[in-house]
Amino acid sequence: MEIWDDILLDKDDNKIEHPCKFPIELTRRIIERFSKKGDLVLDPFAGSGTSLMAAKSLSRKYLGIELSENYVKVANARLGTNKVIRGSVFEASKYVNIETVDLIVTSPPYWDILTKIINYEPQGDDHIGKIQEYHEFLDNLKRAFAELMKLMKKGGKCVVVFTNMRAKGKKYSSCNDFSKTMTRIGFKEVTTIGWDRRREYMQQFKATLQEAREQVWPEFVLVFEKPNKNKNAEQ
Ligand SMILES: C[S@@+](CC[C@H](N)C(=O)[O-])C[C@H]1O[C@@H](n2cnc3c(N)ncnc32)[C@H](O)[C@@H]1O
Repeated sequence: MEIWDDILLDKDDNKIEHPCKFPIELTRRIIERFSKKGDLVLDPFAGSGTSLMAAKSLSRKYLGIELSENYVKVANARLGTNKVIRGSVFEASKYVNIETVDLIVTSPPYWDILTKIINYEPQGDDHIGKIQEYHEFLDNLKRAFAELMKLMKKGGKCVVVFTNMRAKGKKYSSCNDFSKTMTRIGFKEVTTIGWDRRREYMQQFKATLQEAREQVWPEFVLVFEKPNKNKNAEQ
């Protein structure tokens, strides 16, 4: 498996007000690899708008959807536009035209993990980061990505940064579970890239490699494609 171990949150990334922002370099690399100039890039969990900043700098068209009013403001201020729409991913087809998106680059909330590790209160009824039951979390992702698939051009890629999760002493094969969910919707699996964040942890917390090994789980860049022909997707 291809592994990216050289992508760290840098000084500029760290200035951005969002608890789980992407390093801009991560999204730049994804967008360069899976789209071309002029393509439309969508981030439906836009947060602080990092992927859209990368899309802009690479001469792609871009649009974002974000539930939190505060992050919509942060993202639009960074971009100097109003291309991040305040709304819910479950209603994405209200805001974005059907079959117009070339590439989705995104990362949904990692279940309700953030509420357990920092003082974070997800706002809004539709917030995926406040769902407590694991199967309900996966069902909601299924609903969200089925809605998003409608917006994608056939042959377009959907790139989701995700991780395996643990809660109450139990480990979940979340990447595997999510990939199965995506294939049930009708997406085709293309590839998986490992994103090793141990170096970032060591730098941020002045930690040793051994400490980083114990604390940091890899994240994964899961790449899917909307097939050219509709197969018998479950609804
Ligand atoms: C993992 S964060 C994305 C961070 C982003 N990649 C960045 O660099 O800032 C997930 C985002 O999804 C948003 N969110 C949660 N539920 C949502 C929903 N139903 N519709 C749209 N956005 C939602 C959260 O407010 C949060 O900002």
